[in-house]
Amino acid sequence: MSVHKEVKRITTHILQEMKSRGEKITMLTAYDFSMAAIVDEAGMDIILVGDSASNVMAGHQTTLPITLDQMIYHASSVVRAARRALVVVDLPFGSYQGNSKEALNSAIRIMKESGAHSVKMEGGIEISESVSRILTAGIPVMGHLGLTPQSIYKFGTYTVRAKQEAEAQKLREDALKLQELGCFAIVLEKIPATLAKEVSESLHIPTIGIGAGRHCDGQVLVIHDMLGINKEFKPRFLRQYANLHDVMNLAIKNYVSDVKSKSFPDETEQY
Ligand code: KIV
Repeated sequence: MSVHKEVKRITTHILQEMKSRGEKITMLTAYDFSMAAIVDEAGMDIILVGDSASNVMAGHQTTLPITLDQMIYHASSVVRAARRALVVVDLPFGSYQGNSKEALNSAIRIMKESGAHSVKMEGGIEISESVSRILTAGIPVMGHLGLTPQSIYKFGTYTVRAKQEAEAQKLREDALKLQELGCFAIVLEKIPATLAKEVSESLHIPTIGIGAGRHCDGQVLVIHDMLGINKEFKPRFLRQYANLHDVMNLAIKNYVSDVKSKSFPDETEQY
């Protein structure tokens, strides 16, 4: 008999049931084992190994530089910690836009080499062939519409998307297309709350919002932002649940001071 307590894993079917009964879905990013273990233990439904790792882990300005190998490294660390949460991994820029065969190979590498449960892809109708091919291989796909950071050089800024009717209409059509193809959920990033509400109500699959208002079926944040590790990043949509920057900074300053003053280690902290 196993001594480990059995934990029921969140599945895409459970997420669907949550939407049906009006229970909100929680999603947070994580990129390493220790952080993912804390997030999972806190009862998160979905852990996203986001390509925001490119920004918050590697210090790049955009999500574009992160590679498939690097995403697999982050994802496999997270998978080792996640006992309950469904783990979703971003397909990084350049690993799926080229052609659908390459997209499938990238998704298969993520699933095989990290042990993750699904992938996320940015875009709508223009990536439908790749989405469809990955789904046909039995790999669950989460869509991502609105502000899609991998296209930042096309947009030019990180401001709210789909404020104009033409872009809003394209987003409605993209969302329906992704649902029709078989995606299990769609992230809606930085779009007007009224549009996110309309899209969420028109779909039977869940929407997960970030800067898209309260009517999405779930919410996602980048963990470094909500824990206040990045001091400078304070967009309107972000609720900061802690000020870890200052907590960590003080602890580290105290350590430096204790070593310099020779008060650490003392007799009880040695052999
Ligand atoms: O990479 C990421 O963290 C994301 C979220 C912002 C949704 O895609």
